[in-house]
This record gives sequence, C-alpha cells and structure tokens, in this order.
Amino acid sequence: MRLGVLGSGSGSNLQAILDAIDDGTLAAEVVLVLSDNPDAYILERARLRGIATAVIDCRGYRTRFPEEAQRETVTALQEAGAELVCLAGFMRLIKAPLLEAYPGRILNIHPSLLPAFPGLEAWRQALEAGAVETGCTVHFVDGGMDTGPAIVQARVPVKADDSAESLHARIQVEEHRLYPEAIRRVAAGMAAGGG
Ligand code: GAR
Repeated sequence: MRLGVLGSGSGSNLQAILDAIDDGTLAAEVVLVLSDNPDAYILERARLRGIATAVIDCRGYRTRFPEEAQRETVTALQEAGAELVCLAGFMRLIKAPLLEAYPGRILNIHPSLLPAFPGLEAWRQALEAGAVETGCTVHFVDGGMDTGPAIVQARVPVKADDSAESLHARIQVEEHRLYPEAIRRVAAGMAAGGG
C-alpha cells in the first residue's frame, strides 16, 4: 500500500506510521509527504528517511485550501503513485479536486471521539466542556470538518489535574497506535476489493 501523507505540524503521527512499517506491523510504504507549511517538522522527518517531500503553495491563504493548490496536490500524489492519502495533523479542509481523485481513500486522524469536539484543539474543547473521557478517531474524509465515517476510535480518560498539554499527550499515545491500525484495516478492505 503506497501512502501519501499530508501534515501541517510536528508529524508525530507520520513517525508512528513509519515506525509501524519498520517493525513489520504495517505493510505499506510512504511515497510522498506534503505540507502547507514549509517549516513543519513533518517535512524534516520525511527528509531524514529519504522520503520525497513537497510544499503545498496555498497562495497566502491562512486557512483555505485553494482549488488550484488541491489540483497540484492531486498531481503530486498521483505522480508518486499514492493509493491512499493520510491526513496527519493537516489543518485545511479537503474539497472536490482531492476528494474526487481519491474517493473513499482519504483518512484523517482527529483528537476526540467524533462526532464530539470537531475542529481545532479538540483536547482543549474536551477539557473546557468538563468531559471525563475523550479519545481519538481515524475516519474517512468527506467534505465536512472532521466528519465522514469512523474507522476506529480509542478512548482516553480525562484526569482531574489535566492541563491541555497533558491531555493532548495522553491522546497522542493512542493516536500513534490507532493510525497504523486504521491503515491496516482500510488496506485489507481495499485488497479484498472493497473500494
Ligand atoms: C494530532 O493530535 C491530530 O489528531 C490533530 O493534530 C495533531 C497533529 O500531531 N489533528 C487535528 O486536530 C485535525 N482536526 P502530529 O503533527 O504530531 O501528528
């Protein structure tokens, strides 16, 4: 399974995917890592592994993912031979050009038990709402914000003395286990002819 990974930040989820490939628990190859942020550490992680990288030029838009940039992303992914696209901390909404090129083949990881707490800093939202439990979700991407069918979820307790940072760190431990697991399941479904 050839993976294209998109991220905007530190890329610890990319690292977890690479580690799972290394230890033989995930039969996949990361063929391209793309970021909308030229300074994102996710690009450095890819470079250190000799994986091809590219920066997505979002034409100065802070949060939009312009259609032209999505078309360029599709071209780059297709040229690299990516079969499945994994969003790993990618902070822009995916729309038609990319969704149409990879129907049912784009995954996202989100730090809550969706549909609870979509959007930014979901761990902080959980804390501020007084939730006693939160978690993370890997789901298929549709045109919405953190919507689309869930593939796998993991639960994480919220502790009384949690800060935003300590809660996010506990969620990330589960994310790093969950993302390779979700890719395994989707790849098995694709191999069985399930799309
Ligand atoms: C992860 O916690 C991921 O769930 C979150 O960004 C973080 C990226 O961390 N994504 C979202 O909030 C998407 N709505 P990473 O760069 O270390 O993988």
